[in-house]
Amino acid sequence: MKRILSGMQPTSQLHLGNYLGALKNWVAFQEQADTQCLYCVVDLHAITVDYSPKQLANSTREIAAAYIAAGIDPKKSTLFVQSHVPEHSQLMWLLATMAQMGKLERMTQFKDKAGKNKERAGLGLFAYPVLMAADILIYKATHVPVGEDQKQHLELTRDLASTFNTRYDVDFFPQPDPVITGPAPRVMSLRDGSRKMSKSDDSDMTRINLTDTPDLIAKKIKKAKTDSDPLPDNLKGLEGRAEAMNLVTLYAALSDIKKEDVIKKFAGQQFGKFKPALIDVAVEHLTPITERMNELMDNPDQIDRFLVEGANNARTIANENLRQVQKIMGFFI
Ligand code: TYM
Repeated sequence: MKRILSGMQPTSQLHLGNYLGALKNWVAFQEQADTQCLYCVVDLHAITVDYSPKQLANSTREIAAAYIAAGIDPKKSTLFVQSHVPEHSQLMWLLATMAQMGKLERMTQFKDKAGKNKERAGLGLFAYPVLMAADILIYKATHVPVGEDQKQHLELTRDLASTFNTRYDVDFFPQPDPVITGPAPRVMSLRDGSRKMSKSDDSDMTRINLTDTPDLIAKKIKKAKTDSDPLPDNLKGLEGRAEAMNLVTLYAALSDIKKEDVIKKFAGQQFGKFKPALIDVAVEHLTPITERMNELMDNPDQIDRFLVEGANNARTIANENLRQVQKIMGFFI
């Protein structure tokens, strides 16, 4: 039996990187036999950086709406909000006693987010990967579908699982496998092929959000950075052309075909021809998701009902596993 766990932060709108790097993969897991899926909105992670308390609840609901609009069926998957299952935070503290500061200091996401001001970074930002490990291990998840940027956090999770097992001489936590096989595990910025598409980029023109209108999607793709060469006739020809490679990857992922086939279709053509075709597939693929999201957001009570039910289901598993961990660790329970 496989158990899948993954999550996204309600820091702002989801973008094409979140969708193609992770969410699209989550939907596929849902259809597999012998697979139980748990997908959460990780609101406790979102407060490790500046955030708006006024918007947090609604952003959380919006991410849940995006999950459902992208194809997560709350009847097939357990869909919930991280903070509704307090066992995540409880396990985090227990794991924190086993997490090494040196390893946490090497986390690239911490280094990026803390920037030059490491001394002023909050403990929550530093301990972020331990909470992520707790999210996964509290369910003894076996597989974690994520984008490539989460690989290092997953390594730390595996490390904590084995530290726990060794320290308490048990075979309790499985080693969760990262699943980084989405159609586009690292979607790059539309303005700079060396940077990943990110919610935290100051310019909205660098990313396509799941809520963008067709006009805005068209504008962003038209303005996307490219080079002046035509598209090559084989994939090797895209080496060293990061922006071109990114747009070809997006086309392939959005139309569910291989990159090789995109190249065959557009070999020798200029971006002036390729970009309108990319706009078409992007709009065609994303419009139904955006429309469904808007419909769902018009009926927030329904989303909330799904989330209450999901949290109840998740808590049943989390509570039992936490009790077992406490027992193993010698607590008076
Ligand atoms: P977050 O909210 O930053 O991103 C959510 C998911 O989107 C993927 N992603 C991308 N994939 C491809 N290209 C990109 N440009 C891109 N940008 C983001 C991320 O890899 C991620 O899968 N720490 C996690 C949230 C988290 C979590 C967890 C994930 C908390 N607990 C437990 C899995 C399991 C994060 O910051 O994701």
